[in-house]
Amino acid sequence: MDFTAELKRHVARVEQGLDRYLPRADTRPARLHTAMRYSLEAGGKRLRPVLTLAAAELFGVTDDSALPAAVAIECIHTYSLIHDDLPCMDNDDLRRGRPTAHKQFDEATALLAGDALLTHAFVILGEHYAGQLAASLVRELADAAGSRRLIGGQMEDLLAEKKSDATPAELEFIHLNKTAAMIEASLVLGGLVAGASDDQIATLRRAGRHLGLAFQIIDDILDATADTATLGKTAGKDAKADKTTFVKLHGLEKSRNLAAMHTASALQELKNIGKNCEFLLQLGENMVARSR
Ligand code: IPE
Ligand code: IPE
Ligand code: MG
Ligand code: MG
Ligand code: MG
Repeated sequence: MDFTAELKRHVARVEQGLDRYLPRADTRPARLHTAMRYSLEAGGKRLRPVLTLAAAELFGVTDDSALPAAVAIECIHTYSLIHDDLPCMDNDDLRRGRPTAHKQFDEATALLAGDALLTHAFVILGEHYAGQLAASLVRELADAAGSRRLIGGQMEDLLAEKKSDATPAELEFIHLNKTAAMIEASLVLGGLVAGASDDQIATLRRAGRHLGLAFQIIDDILDATADTATLGKTAGKDAKADKTTFVKLHGLEKSRNLAAMHTASALQELKNIGKNCEFLLQLGENMVARSR
C-alpha cells in the first residue's frame, strides 16, 4: 500500500464531499454561507473524516456511503474551531493559515457560521441515512459533540485556565472530551455505516479514545515547540493563557512518551479487529510524528 497516495485519495474524496453537501456560498444569506465555507475550505488535515472513510473501508465499504457521515464530522469539528477561536474563548487570530472567522467577518457572523455548521451536520445525516442506521449515527454524533463530551471538555478547558493545582485526572477529562470524543466518533461512524458488530464498534471506540488523547497531547506539544507559519495557527498560546496542558503538567519529554504510549495502545486495538488496517496503522504513526 502506498500510504501517501491513499491519504491523498481519501482527502480528495472529503474535499469533494464538503463541496457537494454544503449549501453554495451564494445561498441567502450569502454572508453566512460564505463564512461557513470560508472556514471549511481553508483546508486542515481532514483527519476525522479520513478516519471515518478508512474505518468504513476496513469493513469492506469502498463506495461513497460513509462520505456524508465523514462530512458531517468535519462540519462539527470546524464549528468547534470557529467557536474555540472567539475572543470569549481562546481569542485566536489565525486558523488554518488564514485570519479566523471572527477576524475575517465579525464575531456575530462567526458565531452564526459555527451554529450553522453544527446544525448542518445533522441535516446531512438526515438527508443521507434512514431508519436504525440514521438513529445510531445521530445518537453517536450528538453524544460526542454534546455537553458531556466536546462542549463539556471545552468548558473545563476554560475553567482550568490559570489553575495552579489542576490534577492529571482533570487534564485527562479535558482532553478526553474536547478532542478524543470526536476522534472516537469518527471511527465509530465509519464502523456503523459499514455494519460493524457491537464488539467491533467497541474496539473502534477504544482505539479512537487512545488516538484522540495522543492527538491532543501532540497538539499541546506543538503549541509549545512549533512555529506559527508551520502550524497555521499562533504558536505559544497555551503558555500565554496559562492553559492546563500536558506540557504544563508533565513537561515535554513525559508528554512525548505519553503520546507514544496512547498511540501504541490505539494501534494494538486496531490490530485486534483482525482486518487489513495497514492504512489506519500508518495514519496513527504519522499523527504522532506530525509537525502541524
Ligand atoms: C485542532 O484540530 C483542534 C484540536 C482538537 C487539537 P486539528 O489539528 O485536526 O485541526 P485541522 O482540522 O487540521 O485544522
Ligand atoms: C480545541 O483545543 C479543541 C476543540 C474542541 C476545538 P485547542 O484550543 O488546543 O485547539 P487549537 O490549538 O486552538 O487548535
Ligand atoms: Mg481551546
Ligand atoms: Mg484553541
Ligand atoms: Mg491547542
